Amino acid sequence: MSVFQGAYRAHTNIALIKYWGKANKDLFIPTTSSLSLTLDALYTDSRVTFSSDFDKDVFYLNGQLRNEVETAKISQFLDLFRAEAAVDLKAKVESVNHVPTAAGLASSSSAFSALAAATRSALNLEGQISDQVLSTYARRGSGSATRSIFGGFVEWQKGTRNENSMAVRVDEANWDIGMVIMAINTAEKRVSSREGMAHTLNTSPFYPEWVKQNMIDLDRIKAAIVKQDFQLMGEIAEANAMRMHATTMAADPSFTYFEPETIKAIQVVQDLRATGVLAYYTIDAGPNVKVLCRASQMDEVVAFFKVYFPHMDFIKTTAGPGIQRLDRWEYED
Ligand code: DP6
Repeated sequence: MSVFQGAYRAHTNIALIKYWGKANKDLFIPTTSSLSLTLDALYTDSRVTFSSDFDKDVFYLNGQLRNEVETAKISQFLDLFRAEAAVDLKAKVESVNHVPTAAGLASSSSAFSALAAATRSALNLEGQISDQVLSTYARRGSGSATRSIFGGFVEWQKGTRNENSMAVRVDEANWDIGMVIMAINTAEKRVSSREGMAHTLNTSPFYPEWVKQNMIDLDRIKAAIVKQDFQLMGEIAEANAMRMHATTMAADPSFTYFEPETIKAIQVVQDLRATGVLAYYTIDAGPNVKVLCRASQMDEVVAFFKVYFPHMDFIKTTAGPGIQRLDRWEYED
């Protein structure tokens, strides 16, 4: 019997310059480059075991065996690594999402980067697959996973083909960077990011403008990060998020991820800023609002929000690290 095993942790990331559309949907090549902040508080642990004893792939998420549709996606992803290693062994995949307060904020970004790293390790492919190349594998599970291989601020360079659409480190983000996440609604989203971006790309007349503007926003935010200009970085991130959401409203039929509380939270951020606190919102393919602020002011930000949202869960986080090998698996077998 031959058994190969690897376990890794990867952290979630939140885009400040969004990825919103695929130029090649089979290979997950995006229409634009994007840039994110990896978060310390949210992560996924993944363990992969290949064994000649297994006759099919199985997938456990948070200790529960998942259905065939979900397992098929995992199998396809593992196939990329099986091909590289020239092995035909089936695998058991165990993933555990760590989301401090509310369920539903777990993201495919940490899931597929943790799985990519654990699989590389199990099959002893470290010599063949560098971290940067690993990001091209993670990308094939979910685009945003590309960026979770690294910590801090990370750019996903869109590239032109499978081999060069990859993550690049930008900055450690160790200059008083924080994020407060508001769990407005953690239920399953009505329109997945995958469907939402495809529908927008296909039908929104704003889409070509989005692509052009995104490149400008990306260059500007990278310059702001180099200068550690927090205010400029926040302003660009906030504008970029709204531009993405504007494309969905102009789609045909139109749709939005905003809920009434989302708009209210946007206004609270604006009010907070009027008091002199540097705070900027960003929103992904769902109603939850993430507030970029100084790590040293996160308590102040939460206190301000609590006045308007007394029952809301808030997650405070600083910048997180890239993928990490787990020498011990802390969960039950
Ligand atoms: C709005 O990475 O979830 O969060 O590649 O189809 O799996 P797929 O999509 P996904 O999309 C993320 C979209 C976003 C913006 C971002 O993270 O850049």
